[in-house]
Formats: sequence, C-alpha cells, structure tokens
Amino acid sequence: MTQEQDILALSPKEAEKELKRLSKLLAEANFAYHSDDSPDMSDAEYDQLKRRNAAIEAQFPDLKREDSPSDLVGATPSDGFSKVTHAVPMLSLGNAFEDADVTQFDERVRSFLGKSSTDKLAYTAEPKIDGLSLSLRYVAGKLVQAATRGDGATGENVTANAYTIEDVPQFVENAPQILEVRGEVYMSHADFAALNERQLANGDKVFANPRNAAAGSLRQLDAKITQSRPLKFFAYAWGELSAPLHETQLGAIERLSEFGFVTNPLTKRFDKPDALIAHYRDIEAQRATLGYDIDGVVYKVDSLELQSRLGFRSTTPRWAIAHKFPAELAWTRLEAIDIQVGRTGALSPVARLQPVTVGGVVVSNATLHNEDYIRGFDSKGGEIRDGKDIRVGDWVQVYRAGDVIPKIADVDLKKRPADSVRYVFPDKCPECQSDAVREEGDAVRRCIGGIICPAQAMEKLKHFVARKAFDIEGLGAKQIEMFFDDPDLAINQPADIFTLQARDAGNFTKLKNRKGWGAQSANNLFSAIEEKRKIGFGRVLFSLGIRHVGEAASNLLANHYGSWEALETALDQAKGFEGAAWEELLSIDGIGEVMARSLVGVFAQGGERVSIDALIAHLDVQQAIKPSSEGSPVAGKTVVFTGTLEKMSRAEAKARAESLGAKVAGSVSSKTDILVAGPGAGSKAKKAADLGVKTLDEDAWLALIEGL
Ligand code: IVH
Repeated sequence: MTQEQDILALSPKEAEKELKRLSKLLAEANFAYHSDDSPDMSDAEYDQLKRRNAAIEAQFPDLKREDSPSDLVGATPSDGFSKVTHAVPMLSLGNAFEDADVTQFDERVRSFLGKSSTDKLAYTAEPKIDGLSLSLRYVAGKLVQAATRGDGATGENVTANAYTIEDVPQFVENAPQILEVRGEVYMSHADFAALNERQLANGDKVFANPRNAAAGSLRQLDAKITQSRPLKFFAYAWGELSAPLHETQLGAIERLSEFGFVTNPLTKRFDKPDALIAHYRDIEAQRATLGYDIDGVVYKVDSLELQSRLGFRSTTPRWAIAHKFPAELAWTRLEAIDIQVGRTGALSPVARLQPVTVGGVVVSNATLHNEDYIRGFDSKGGEIRDGKDIRVGDWVQVYRAGDVIPKIADVDLKKRPADSVRYVFPDKCPECQSDAVREEGDAVRRCIGGIICPAQAMEKLKHFVARKAFDIEGLGAKQIEMFFDDPDLAINQPADIFTLQARDAGNFTKLKNRKGWGAQSANNLFSAIEEKRKIGFGRVLFSLGIRHVGEAASNLLANHYGSWEALETALDQAKGFEGAAWEELLSIDGIGEVMARSLVGVFAQGGERVSIDALIAHLDVQQAIKPSSEGSPVAGKTVVFTGTLEKMSRAEAKARAESLGAKVAGSVSSKTDILVAGPGAGSKAKKAADLGVKTLDEDAWLALIEGL
C-alpha cells in the first residue's frame, strides 16, 4: 500500500489522531534542527512526514490543526530552505547541436524500439525555456508542495514562494489524487527590464539575465519578496501520478492546460526528424519576438508507452533531447594563460580575458583545453583555426553555448602585437615542480606527483565533497581550501573529514572559535559529516575521483559487485591485468579496458590504497541493491544476450534486465547464470552449453520476467 492509499483508507477519527501525532513529531524535529542538538531525523524522513501531513489535510480539510506543520513552510532555517526528496527524480536532457544529432536521436530511438513498434512513431517539439524547473505536488487537487530541481534527487522546498506565482494554480479540479506537475519558472523580457530598473533605482542588485532574475526571485527565504517579482510558469512535464494523464505527451499537456496550467502554444506533433528541424527553424526565427528567453527546442517521443519502454540513462531520458541554438560570440583580448592542475594531475590551460559580455553574461575566463589546442592542432594532428596558434596579447573570439565553460573559437591575426611570442607549455607542474609528462596518445600533459602534489590532493578533495559525490552540507570547495592548510584541523585526504570532530575536541582549538565559524555552524558541519557516514556504494566509488571512472561506471561496478569488500577482493585479484577476476571486470558491459586499468591501478598503488582504506574504515558503505529488483527472479544474476532478439532490441533487453537487478555481461563465462539466445546464436551458445549455463530463448526469458 502506498502512503497515499493508506491515507485514503483513514477514518476521520484516525486522521485526526494521525495529524496530532505528525504535528508533535514534526515540531520536535524542527526544534532539534534549529537548536544546537543534532537533528534526530533525516531530511528525507522529515520531508516524507510533512508530505503525509499535507496529504491527510487535503483529504480532511476540516481537521487541519491550528498548529499545522504545513504552515511552517515559510519558517525555514535562516541558512537555507528545507530539502525535498523528489518522489520521481527530476532529470535533465541530452543535447543536440547539429541537425545530424537530431536524425541520430531518431535512429537511436528506432533501433532501441525495433521495427514493429515504430510504424506510428511521432514526436512533440516545443521551446526549451531558459528558466529553472519546478515540481508542484497536488494531493486531492490542492497544491501541497513545490520544489526546485536541486541535484535531481533532492531539491529545495519553495512551497511558500510558489503560492505567490500567478500561473501556478493552488487548486486543480478533476485531477488525479496525486498529481505532480513540472515545468519552468521564468521571467519575461519586459518584466526583467522593469525589475532591473526598480532594483537600480533602489540601489539593489541588478540581474545579469532573466534566468538569474527568476532563480534569484524564486529562491527567496522571504516569500513576500518572491510575490513582488513577476514570475511566470510553463508546465511541460510531470512526476508522480496516481493515474495516467493520457496516452500521449501532447494529450497529457492538453490535460494540464485543462487543469489550468499555462502550456507553451508552440508545442506541436511531427512524424519525421525533418519536420522537427523545420519547426526548430521556425521557433528560432521567432526567438527574438517571443518576449522570453529560450535556448533551444525539446523533442519528445509522443507515445507515453514508448517513453516508458525507452526509459532513462543515468540522468537523461532516451525518449527526449534538447536541440540547442548555436552559441553566442564576442571578441576580446587574451591577457594571460594560467595553468590549473586538476585532480588527475592534468595541466589545463585557462585563458584570462579582458571581461566581455557574451549573450548576456560577463566572461573573463575561457578554457584552452590543452597544449595542442593552443598550437592550433586537434588531437589527431589536424589543423584547427587554420593552424593559427593562440598567444598572450591576441584578440580572440569567445563563445559560449548554454552553461558550458566558454571557449576560444578564433584569433584575429591582423590585431596580433608585433612583439608577441609563441606560448610555451610548461613541462613541470607549476604547483609541486614534479615533471609534467605527456603519454603517447594522450592529449593532456600530467603532473606525476600523485597525492604528493597539493593541487591534485586539493582537487581530489573538492571532487570528493561535490554534489554528486559526498555532498556534505557546509563543506564545499571553499571550506576545503580553508581546511587544507590548517595547522590543527588539516583535511588532506578524505578520511580526515571523518576525524575532524574528534580532532577538534582533542586539541581544544575548537572550530567554533574560529573566524567565520560559530557553535551553530561548527555543530551543523559535524552533524552533516555524521549523516554521510552511511552512504551508497556507487557514490563512494565515484567520490574517489579515479580517472575514467565516472558516475555511471561507478554505479555499474557497484551493481555488479554488490559490496565494497567484493570489489576490493576482485581488484586485488585483478592486479596483474590477467586471470579470472580481470576477465570478469572486463566482461561488465560498459567497463572498458582503459577504465579497468585505471581502477585496478589505483587500488594497487600503495599510498592511494592506504588513503582509500582509511576512508572506508570510517564509513558504513551500503550494499548496492536496486529498488525495482524486489521479488525479481533475475536480481543479482548475470545474463548474456546473444543472437537476434525479435521482440525488442538488444539495448532495450539490456536496460530491462538491468532494471530488474540483473547484471548484463558481454561474454559467457563460468559466472554467467542465464544465456538468452535468439536465432543465429553461435559461439556463445556453444560455450554456454559446454559450461552448463542455463540457456533460454527470447520467449522463455520474457515469460520469466513477465509482469515485473
Ligand atoms: S523536459 C525528463 N521540456 O531543461 C525531461 N525541459 O536540460 C524533463 N527545460 O531541467 C525535462 N524547457 O529545466 C523539458 N520544454 C521543456 C523544457 C525543459 C526547459 C529545462 C528543464 C530541464 C532542463 C534539461
């Protein structure tokens, strides 16, 4: 029974009792949060109880208490908003820049779904609004919660602020019991100009562009300020629903419009990529006169059934893509070239520019990629910019596309100073003076100092605390810089974070007496660190910042090995880059040899390994269990597909199996549990037979997983 179903079953008497219990519980949690005590409840738990309370209130409006926790919405802690765990994650979109990317997107969709499902394939196309996304939760037709996207899994509770937006209905009629509407908060050009005029007249902050103004206005702790700002909202998607809205994207959008949401009038349906691109050109031509900022066009598969079959990659749906407008350009002077040392030792040249406005944003830094790029060559030795090199003092053309770091597109040789000299790329690390070497086939020069290089150690730590990694509240890049050189409370490696509180109490330096710190902020930091001792396997692995081992790969590895101990044992056994453990690592679909070597190499390197094990000793690493694999007969099983599949493409079969908790491998070994063999299966089927691996045909496989 879901939480909301159980609420539907409550009698008024039970509801009253439950509201009383929740009000007491939430008041206590609130007190603990605001006082010096460590919070007694996780954010997610707090959030869930608050949602439960709001849902019961929506069901029994007469029973709402005087001291209802719902009215505490505005009373958020002074240092920020409370957190909201999204019932369905808020994802981002993959990007297309060229027309060819759009045709490829269509081809990918078709090949994933297979011929039989794509006869009537259609797409919607609509403007990509340049604002910030917001998720609105309605229970029994009443708006009970509004949250920003945040990191996609958890956002900020901005309910009080959302109530002040005119385009956001507070009540919807004839809606499903649970309805989460998602869309974009934005500010029109006219409202933006008027707001900035007002701000200027009052001596207040002037906003760089409408998106910043919208974000700054929505994320106000005082909802009265939000109310005074002219925010608008377009609905274009949804999260949790207790009943489907429609069978198609366009139909669902129409329903949202019937519920009273504003939807974008340029949303249309098309059959072919050519027609999508034509609509893109049409919208691009209207861009300047729309009256609000858009940065591209979003294409979505129209059938919701196909959307759900296509599913998601780690953070983006397979059924949608954003076709971005071309980048914006400006010319300026290159004042200096600085070298930054990254967490894997890469020396990255950065252009320091005379500040220039590019598409409404002031740019003073741009990436120069690597030494070849400065010399005028690409990674294969071909010329870029007609072979023109980049020199300090040059006039350079800067461009930016979306949120990516600005880049240098061109150099104006006519304006090159007569005395300019070619840039010489350093062969020593500017931070630790170790040699900086460039391995064959690598575009990047790297400092070989490893963890003795302070820049690498610091960048590793910054990565470690980043949002997608440990995400410790109150411990960001700035604080890492502060603690790094601290004489008493140094954080030089991840494990030091988890001994901070003990060390603080031990040598009486007391963080709370430091400049910029107080009892509250020190205690908040210690409890934020405590909270992260219990953490998911994939996240820990990603946090280590191992070269080539990104978020998706970390999750694949976590799902494959299940426990940290199993991973360590396997990597130890794979040390020589040969043998069964090495073969198994390579057999994981999505793990290539370069990544595998990097991973095994780091775990085999003495200093690194000591640092990793010291960290793990402080943690309670959670085993990787996929939520949807509950009751799945294939959870934890290793499956290999071979031959032709007729009911679905290989990609869909793989995605489906993984969502049921199975590991999909590319080759048959003694570890394989099931081989799914279609017509034309060859050597793999034979090997499976030799090894006595259970072999199923496609229908038998589907029967096995049916109904899951
Ligand atoms: S659909 C699962 N449609 O773009 C896909 N997103 O890069 C959900 N955005 O975070 C997003 N206009 O903030 C969608 N018409 C539109 C959009 C749109 C703007 C934003 C949204 C999202 C980001 C993804």
